[in-house]
Amino acid sequence: MRYRKTMTATALLSRLLPWTDRAGRVSGWKLAAFIAAVLPGLWLGWLIASGGGGPKPVTFAIHDTGTWALWFLIATLAITPLRRIGNWPKLILARRLLGLTALAYSVIHLGLYVVDQHFDLGFVVREIALRAYLTIGFVATLGLLALGLTSTDGAIRRLGSNWNRLHKLVYPIAALGVLHGFMQAKSDVAPATLMAGLFVLLMLYRAAHASRFGLTRAGLPIVAAMAGAATMAIEYAWYALATGIPAHLVLAANFEIGDEPRPAMLVGLIGLAIAALGGWRMRGTSARPRRRGDVRLAACDTPRTATTTG
Ligand code: HEM
Repeated sequence: MRYRKTMTATALLSRLLPWTDRAGRVSGWKLAAFIAAVLPGLWLGWLIASGGGGPKPVTFAIHDTGTWALWFLIATLAITPLRRIGNWPKLILARRLLGLTALAYSVIHLGLYVVDQHFDLGFVVREIALRAYLTIGFVATLGLLALGLTSTDGAIRRLGSNWNRLHKLVYPIAALGVLHGFMQAKSDVAPATLMAGLFVLLMLYRAAHASRFGLTRAGLPIVAAMAGAATMAIEYAWYALATGIPAHLVLAANFEIGDEPRPAMLVGLIGLAIAALGGWRMRGTSARPRRRGDVRLAACDTPRTATTTG
Protein backbone atom coordinates (compact mmCIF):
# COMPACT_ATOMS: atom_id res chain seq x y z
CA MET A 1 0.00 0.00 0.00
CA ARG A 2 2.77 2.39 1.04
CA TYR A 3 4.74 1.31 -2.00
CA ARG A 4 1.73 2.08 -4.24
CA LYS A 5 1.33 5.52 -2.67
CA THR A 6 5.02 6.29 -3.29
CA MET A 7 4.66 5.14 -6.88
CA THR A 8 1.64 7.38 -7.42
CA ALA A 9 3.41 10.38 -5.93
CA THR A 10 6.50 9.71 -8.06
CA ALA A 11 4.38 9.32 -11.19
CA LEU A 12 2.53 12.56 -10.41
CA LEU A 13 5.77 14.41 -9.76
CA SER A 14 7.31 13.19 -13.01
CA ARG A 15 4.27 14.54 -14.88
CA LEU A 16 4.60 17.92 -13.20
CA LEU A 17 8.23 18.41 -14.16
CA PRO A 18 8.56 21.15 -16.80
CA TRP A 19 10.39 18.84 -19.21
CA THR A 20 7.99 15.88 -19.18
CA ASP A 21 4.89 15.22 -21.26
CA ARG A 22 1.50 14.16 -19.93
CA ALA A 23 2.64 10.56 -19.68
CA GLY A 24 5.60 11.60 -17.52
CA ARG A 25 8.15 10.90 -20.28
CA VAL A 26 10.97 13.38 -20.98
CA SER A 27 10.07 15.51 -24.02
CA GLY A 28 13.09 16.74 -26.00
CA TRP A 29 11.19 19.87 -27.08
CA LYS A 30 10.13 20.73 -23.53
CA LEU A 31 13.59 20.07 -22.15
CA ALA A 32 15.14 22.36 -24.80
CA ALA A 33 12.54 25.06 -24.03
CA PHE A 34 13.20 24.72 -20.29
CA ILE A 35 16.97 25.08 -20.74
CA ALA A 36 16.41 28.08 -23.06
CA ALA A 37 14.05 29.59 -20.46
CA VAL A 38 16.42 29.43 -17.49
CA LEU A 39 19.72 30.23 -19.23
CA PRO A 40 19.17 34.01 -19.73
CA GLY A 41 18.10 34.37 -16.08
CA LEU A 42 21.12 32.44 -14.81
CA TRP A 43 23.44 34.40 -17.10
CA LEU A 44 21.97 37.71 -15.93
CA GLY A 45 22.27 36.68 -12.28
CA TRP A 46 25.91 35.69 -12.80
CA LEU A 47 26.68 38.93 -14.66
CA ILE A 48 25.17 41.07 -11.91
CA ALA A 49 26.86 39.06 -9.15
CA SER A 50 30.24 39.34 -10.85
CA GLY A 51 29.90 43.08 -11.43
CA GLY A 52 29.35 42.70 -15.20
CA GLY A 53 26.11 44.69 -15.13
CA GLY A 54 27.88 48.04 -15.33
CA PRO A 55 27.47 51.00 -12.98
CA LYS A 56 23.66 50.62 -12.98
CA PRO A 57 22.99 46.89 -12.64
CA VAL A 58 19.22 47.34 -12.06
CA THR A 59 18.84 49.40 -15.26
CA PHE A 60 20.92 46.78 -17.06
CA ALA A 61 18.64 44.03 -15.71
CA ILE A 62 15.49 45.98 -16.71
CA HIS A 63 16.72 46.13 -20.30
CA ASP A 64 17.83 42.50 -20.30
CA THR A 65 14.60 41.06 -18.85
CA GLY A 66 12.45 43.26 -21.14
CA THR A 67 14.37 42.03 -24.17
CA TRP A 68 14.05 38.38 -23.08
CA ALA A 69 10.33 38.78 -22.34
CA LEU A 70 9.83 39.87 -25.94
CA TRP A 71 12.09 37.17 -27.40
CA PHE A 72 10.18 34.48 -25.53
CA LEU A 73 6.88 35.96 -26.68
CA ILE A 74 8.11 35.81 -30.27
CA ALA A 75 9.36 32.23 -29.69
CA THR A 76 5.87 31.33 -28.38
CA LEU A 77 4.28 32.75 -31.54
CA ALA A 78 6.80 30.87 -33.69
CA ILE A 79 5.73 27.46 -32.38
CA THR A 80 2.58 27.01 -34.47
CA PRO A 81 4.07 28.03 -37.85
CA LEU A 82 7.29 26.05 -37.21
CA ARG A 83 5.27 23.02 -36.18
CA ARG A 84 3.43 23.21 -39.49
CA ILE A 85 6.42 24.04 -41.68
CA GLY A 86 8.79 21.57 -40.01
CA ASN A 87 6.11 18.91 -39.60
CA TRP A 88 6.94 18.58 -35.90
CA PRO A 89 3.56 17.99 -34.20
CA LYS A 90 5.17 17.55 -30.76
CA LEU A 91 6.77 21.00 -30.89
CA ILE A 92 3.43 22.24 -29.51
CA LEU A 93 4.44 20.73 -26.14
CA ALA A 94 6.95 23.58 -25.69
CA ARG A 95 4.45 26.40 -26.29
CA ARG A 96 2.99 26.81 -22.81
CA LEU A 97 6.43 26.74 -21.20
CA LEU A 98 7.69 29.45 -23.58
CA GLY A 99 4.61 31.62 -23.01
CA LEU A 100 4.96 31.33 -19.24
CA THR A 101 8.64 32.20 -19.57
CA ALA A 102 7.68 35.40 -21.42
CA LEU A 103 5.28 36.19 -18.57
CA ALA A 104 7.95 35.45 -15.93
CA TYR A 105 10.52 37.75 -17.55
CA SER A 106 7.84 40.49 -17.94
CA VAL A 107 6.90 40.28 -14.26
CA ILE A 108 10.58 40.35 -13.20
CA HIS A 109 11.06 43.30 -15.60
CA LEU A 110 8.20 45.18 -13.92
CA GLY A 111 9.49 44.19 -10.47
CA LEU A 112 12.94 45.54 -11.31
CA TYR A 113 11.36 48.80 -12.44
CA VAL A 114 9.70 49.05 -9.00
CA VAL A 115 13.09 48.34 -7.37
CA ASP A 116 14.64 51.06 -9.55
CA GLN A 117 12.03 53.51 -8.25
CA HIS A 118 12.98 52.58 -4.64
CA PHE A 119 9.61 50.82 -4.10
CA ASP A 120 7.74 54.14 -4.36
CA LEU A 121 4.54 52.50 -5.63
CA GLY A 122 2.66 55.82 -5.87
CA PHE A 123 5.35 57.13 -8.21
CA VAL A 124 5.33 53.90 -10.23
CA VAL A 125 1.54 54.08 -10.71
CA ARG A 126 1.75 57.76 -11.72
CA GLU A 127 4.56 57.05 -14.20
CA ILE A 128 2.62 54.14 -15.73
CA ALA A 129 -0.43 56.38 -16.08
CA LEU A 130 1.51 59.33 -17.53
CA ARG A 131 4.12 57.80 -19.83
CA ALA A 132 2.66 56.20 -22.92
CA TYR A 133 5.42 53.60 -23.31
CA LEU A 134 4.95 52.44 -19.71
CA THR A 135 1.16 52.34 -20.10
CA ILE A 136 1.62 50.16 -23.17
CA GLY A 137 4.05 47.88 -21.31
CA PHE A 138 1.65 47.65 -18.39
CA VAL A 139 -1.31 46.69 -20.61
CA ALA A 140 0.90 44.04 -22.26
CA THR A 141 1.90 42.69 -18.83
CA LEU A 142 -1.75 42.52 -17.70
CA GLY A 143 -2.61 40.70 -20.92
CA LEU A 144 0.20 38.20 -20.40
CA LEU A 145 -0.95 37.66 -16.81
CA ALA A 146 -4.49 36.90 -18.02
CA LEU A 147 -3.13 34.38 -20.52
CA GLY A 148 -0.79 32.85 -17.94
CA LEU A 149 -3.53 32.44 -15.33
CA THR A 150 -5.79 30.72 -17.87
CA SER A 151 -3.09 28.32 -19.01
CA THR A 152 -3.65 25.66 -16.37
CA ASP A 153 -5.26 22.39 -17.47
CA GLY A 154 -8.29 23.20 -15.29
CA ALA A 155 -8.78 26.68 -16.81
CA ILE A 156 -8.38 25.26 -20.31
CA ARG A 157 -11.08 22.66 -19.61
CA ARG A 158 -13.43 25.21 -18.03
CA LEU A 159 -13.07 27.79 -20.82
CA GLY A 160 -13.59 25.24 -23.61
CA SER A 161 -13.70 26.90 -27.03
CA ASN A 162 -13.48 30.35 -25.39
CA TRP A 163 -9.90 29.47 -24.47
CA ASN A 164 -8.76 29.71 -28.09
CA ARG A 165 -10.63 33.00 -28.50
CA LEU A 166 -9.09 34.47 -25.34
CA HIS A 167 -5.59 33.33 -26.22
CA LYS A 168 -5.77 35.09 -29.59
CA LEU A 169 -5.02 38.14 -27.43
CA VAL A 170 -1.40 37.04 -27.62
CA TYR A 171 -1.12 38.81 -31.03
CA PRO A 172 -2.10 42.33 -29.84
CA ILE A 173 -0.10 41.74 -26.64
CA ALA A 174 3.03 40.94 -28.68
CA ALA A 175 2.38 44.00 -30.89
CA LEU A 176 2.17 46.16 -27.74
CA GLY A 177 5.41 44.61 -26.45
CA VAL A 178 7.15 45.43 -29.74
CA LEU A 179 5.79 49.01 -29.68
CA HIS A 180 6.91 49.44 -26.05
CA GLY A 181 10.40 48.21 -27.02
CA PHE A 182 10.47 50.66 -29.96
CA MET A 183 9.34 53.64 -27.86
CA GLN A 184 12.14 53.37 -25.34
CA ALA A 185 14.84 52.21 -27.77
CA LYS A 186 16.15 55.79 -28.13
CA SER A 187 18.84 56.07 -30.86
CA ASP A 188 19.33 52.39 -31.73
CA VAL A 189 16.10 50.83 -32.93
CA ALA A 190 17.78 47.92 -34.74
CA PRO A 191 16.84 45.26 -32.09
CA ALA A 192 13.26 46.58 -31.89
CA THR A 193 13.06 46.61 -35.72
CA LEU A 194 14.32 43.02 -35.85
CA MET A 195 11.67 41.90 -33.36
CA ALA A 196 8.96 43.83 -35.24
CA GLY A 197 10.08 42.19 -38.51
CA LEU A 198 10.00 38.70 -36.98
CA PHE A 199 6.56 39.41 -35.56
CA VAL A 200 5.39 40.36 -39.08
CA LEU A 201 7.01 37.21 -40.52
CA LEU A 202 5.09 35.06 -38.02
CA MET A 203 1.83 36.89 -38.75
CA LEU A 204 2.37 36.37 -42.49
CA TYR A 205 2.78 32.61 -41.93
CA ARG A 206 -0.58 32.63 -40.16
CA ALA A 207 -2.20 34.66 -42.92
CA ALA A 208 -0.74 32.33 -45.57
CA HIS A 209 -1.95 29.26 -43.70
CA ALA A 210 -5.46 30.71 -43.40
CA SER A 211 -5.55 31.74 -47.08
CA ARG A 212 -6.03 29.57 -50.13
CA PHE A 213 -2.26 29.78 -50.80
CA GLY A 214 -1.22 27.90 -47.65
CA LEU A 215 2.33 27.25 -46.46
CA THR A 216 3.85 25.80 -49.62
CA ARG A 217 7.45 25.33 -50.73
CA ALA A 218 6.90 28.00 -53.38
CA GLY A 219 5.11 30.37 -51.02
CA LEU A 220 7.57 30.33 -48.11
CA PRO A 221 10.37 32.31 -49.89
CA ILE A 222 7.73 34.86 -50.99
CA VAL A 223 6.61 35.26 -47.36
CA ALA A 224 10.29 35.74 -46.37
CA ALA A 225 10.73 38.49 -49.00
CA MET A 226 7.47 40.17 -47.93
CA ALA A 227 8.56 40.15 -44.25
CA GLY A 228 11.96 41.65 -45.20
CA ALA A 229 10.22 44.40 -47.18
CA ALA A 230 7.78 45.04 -44.33
CA THR A 231 10.72 45.33 -41.90
CA MET A 232 12.26 48.02 -44.10
CA ALA A 233 8.92 49.82 -44.23
CA ILE A 234 8.53 49.70 -40.43
CA GLU A 235 12.06 51.04 -39.92
CA TYR A 236 11.49 53.79 -42.48
CA ALA A 237 8.16 54.77 -40.90
CA TRP A 238 9.72 54.87 -37.42
CA TYR A 239 12.57 57.15 -38.46
CA ALA A 240 10.24 59.34 -40.56
CA LEU A 241 7.56 59.72 -37.89
CA ALA A 242 9.38 59.50 -34.55
CA THR A 243 12.88 60.91 -35.14
CA GLY A 244 14.58 63.80 -36.90
CA ILE A 245 16.93 61.40 -38.71
CA PRO A 246 16.44 61.38 -42.54
CA ALA A 247 14.47 58.16 -43.06
CA HIS A 248 15.46 57.82 -46.74
CA LEU A 249 19.13 57.46 -45.72
CA VAL A 250 18.21 54.64 -43.32
CA LEU A 251 16.20 53.00 -46.09
CA ALA A 252 19.12 53.35 -48.53
CA ALA A 253 21.46 51.67 -45.99
CA ASN A 254 19.47 48.47 -46.55
CA PHE A 255 20.88 48.28 -50.07
CA GLU A 256 24.51 48.93 -49.12
CA ILE A 257 27.03 46.41 -47.84
CA GLY A 258 27.82 47.45 -44.27
CA ASP A 259 29.67 45.97 -41.29
CA GLU A 260 26.52 44.63 -39.67
CA PRO A 261 23.48 43.08 -41.35
CA ARG A 262 20.41 45.32 -41.27
CA PRO A 263 17.25 44.04 -39.48
CA ALA A 264 15.38 43.69 -42.81
CA MET A 265 18.14 41.48 -44.18
CA LEU A 266 18.16 39.35 -41.02
CA VAL A 267 14.39 38.90 -41.16
CA GLY A 268 14.61 37.97 -44.87
CA LEU A 269 17.45 35.50 -44.17
CA ILE A 270 15.62 33.92 -41.23
CA GLY A 271 12.52 33.61 -43.46
CA LEU A 272 14.61 32.01 -46.21
CA ALA A 273 16.20 29.60 -43.72
CA ILE A 274 12.71 28.58 -42.60
CA ALA A 275 11.70 28.26 -46.28
CA ALA A 276 14.71 25.97 -46.85
CA LEU A 277 13.71 23.91 -43.82
CA GLY A 278 10.14 23.72 -45.12
CA GLY A 279 11.38 22.76 -48.60
CA TRP A 280 13.48 19.99 -47.08
CA ARG A 281 10.70 18.70 -44.80
CA MET A 282 8.14 18.85 -47.63
CA ARG A 283 10.41 17.17 -50.19
CA GLY A 284 8.55 14.57 -52.16
CA THR A 285 5.26 16.45 -51.85
CA SER A 286 3.88 18.52 -54.71
CA ALA A 287 5.10 22.15 -54.76
CA ARG A 288 1.84 23.06 -56.48
CA PRO A 289 -0.88 21.25 -54.59
CA ARG A 290 -4.06 20.36 -56.37
CA ARG A 291 -6.43 20.65 -53.47
CA ARG A 292 -6.62 23.05 -50.54
CA GLY A 293 -6.16 20.17 -48.10
CA ASP A 294 -2.80 19.33 -49.70
CA VAL A 295 -1.58 22.89 -49.33
CA ARG A 296 -1.81 22.95 -45.59
CA LEU A 297 0.44 20.08 -44.69
CA ALA A 298 -2.56 18.36 -43.20
CA ALA A 299 -0.45 15.52 -41.80
CA CYS A 300 1.30 17.74 -39.27
CA ASP A 301 -1.57 20.03 -38.53
CA THR A 302 -3.04 18.63 -35.34
CA PRO A 303 -6.35 20.25 -34.36
CA ARG A 304 -5.89 23.55 -32.61
CA THR A 305 -7.37 22.42 -29.35
CA ALA A 306 -6.43 23.87 -26.04
CA THR A 307 -5.15 20.49 -24.87
CA THR A 308 -2.21 20.77 -27.25
CA THR A 309 -0.58 23.46 -25.13
CA GLY A 310 1.82 21.06 -23.42
C1 HEM B 1 4.32 47.57 -16.39
C2 HEM B 1 5.02 46.95 -17.27
C3 HEM B 1 6.35 47.44 -17.79
C4 HEM B 1 7.16 48.44 -17.34
C5 HEM B 1 6.95 49.37 -16.14
C6 HEM B 1 8.31 48.48 -18.20
C7 HEM B 1 9.38 49.35 -18.09
C8 HEM B 1 10.46 49.42 -18.91
C9 HEM B 1 11.56 50.32 -18.75
C10 HEM B 1 11.70 51.35 -17.64
C11 HEM B 1 12.43 50.09 -19.76
C12 HEM B 1 13.77 50.76 -19.98
C13 HEM B 1 13.59 52.16 -20.47
C14 HEM B 1 14.88 52.96 -20.38
O1 HEM B 1 15.19 53.46 -19.33
O2 HEM B 1 15.60 53.04 -21.38
C15 HEM B 1 11.87 49.03 -20.57
C16 HEM B 1 12.45 48.50 -21.70
C17 HEM B 1 11.95 47.43 -22.40
N1 HEM B 1 10.83 46.70 -22.12
FE1 HEM B 1 9.52 47.11 -20.63
N2 HEM B 1 8.16 47.51 -19.16
C18 HEM B 1 7.00 46.85 -18.94
C19 HEM B 1 6.48 45.78 -19.68
C20 HEM B 1 7.12 45.18 -20.71
C21 HEM B 1 6.64 44.02 -21.45
C22 HEM B 1 5.34 43.29 -21.17
C23 HEM B 1 7.58 43.72 -22.40
C24 HEM B 1 7.60 42.61 -23.42
C25 HEM B 1 6.78 41.63 -23.55
C26 HEM B 1 8.64 44.69 -22.29
C27 HEM B 1 9.73 44.74 -23.10
C28 HEM B 1 10.70 45.71 -23.04
C29 HEM B 1 11.78 45.80 -24.00
C30 HEM B 1 12.02 44.89 -25.20
C31 HEM B 1 12.56 46.88 -23.60
C32 HEM B 1 13.79 47.38 -24.31
C33 HEM B 1 15.04 46.72 -23.81
C34 HEM B 1 16.24 47.31 -24.53
O3 HEM B 1 16.14 47.68 -25.69
O4 HEM B 1 17.30 47.38 -23.91
N3 HEM B 1 8.33 45.56 -21.25
N4 HEM B 1 10.67 48.64 -20.03
